Amino acid sequence: MNKPRLRFFENSAGQQHITDADKYLYQQQQPSHKLVVIGTGTIGQEHMRVASLLGRAQIHGIYDTQTHSLDIAEANFKTYSDQPLLRYPDLASACNDPQADALFICTPNHTHFEILQVAIKSGKAIFLEKPMATDLKDAAATVALSDAYQSFVQIGLQYRYKAQYVEAFHEAKSRGSLGEIKTIAMSEYRPPFLDKVDQWNKFNANSGGTLVEKCCHYFDLINLMAESQPTLVYASGGQGVNFTDFSKDGVPADIADHAFVVIDYANGTRANFTLNMFCPDFTEEMVVSGTRGG
Ligand SMILES: NC(=O)c1ccc[n+]([C@@H]2O[C@H](COP(=O)([O-])OP(=O)(O)OC[C@H]3O[C@@H](n4cnc5c(N)ncnc54)[C@H](O)[C@@H]3O)[C@@H](O)[C@H]2O)c1
Repeated sequence: MNKPRLRFFENSAGQQHITDADKYLYQQQQPSHKLVVIGTGTIGQEHMRVASLLGRAQIHGIYDTQTHSLDIAEANFKTYSDQPLLRYPDLASACNDPQADALFICTPNHTHFEILQVAIKSGKAIFLEKPMATDLKDAAATVALSDAYQSFVQIGLQYRYKAQYVEAFHEAKSRGSLGEIKTIAMSEYRPPFLDKVDQWNKFNANSGGTLVEKCCHYFDLINLMAESQPTLVYASGGQGVNFTDFSKDGVPADIADHAFVVIDYANGTRANFTLNMFCPDFTEEMVVSGTRGG
């Protein structure tokens, strides 16, 4: 039998008196994979931290077009890791380091497709942050590139792994508690989009629009729950409150901050999604009903 794996206790302060000689469950394996992070902003740094804490992979190197982002990422990295960290001078060298096993693309949405085309020449495993692209043409080309790839491209739609949704999918799909699913209602109420480097997320041209940038997580969950293809989609939304007085280089922000979406699926399931981004706090909810209840 394999040794049981343990998480959490091995690093807790109250367990530091256990010496190496007594470490059995607490023993940590050497990281087996080396990762390169491209784009060391908010989420690039989060991947660096989480991968380091999990301990199964090592952050081998980083690349960003902004020295400031690299400096901050490196300084933060040093607070939790004593491992060496390479800095690459350009994208091609970041993608083609023979020492590295996988590439994490964590740059703004409008750069994903261009960077992916360079990254995919490496043959390495690729993690591409959501949304995969900002328009349908690039999204379809990304799927085609990924289908033909000898390694894999994973998109950062990690909400499907959140504990509450894993539990909901288990209840609805494995246990079948709701019977045949008929309706799915999802909502998110939250504060406005955060500041970003060059404020890329304030403009539809960079982000693909709010329903793509933020809400792709929710459409992913709704699609998984419906297990069918959408046949009709109706959406209404706009910019009601946020960033109405914000502009950059003379260009006013144009992102929606509220929306209602209705989706009909081929299997008869109906879904809706509500977004509001001018709330003081975060709330998200998924309500699912079927032939046996909700
Ligand atoms: N999965 C999630 O839940 C989640 C959460 C937040 C962000 N994201 C996604 O991650 C991506 C980055 O978002 P963020 O919040 O970290 O933004 P950010 O602005 O904080 O960081 C982006 C970084 O990319 C760098 N960059 C820009 N163009 C580049 C290029 N061509 N090559 C290399 N580096 C470049 C910027 O200098 C910056 O440091 C976006 O696609 C966003 O949608 C995903």
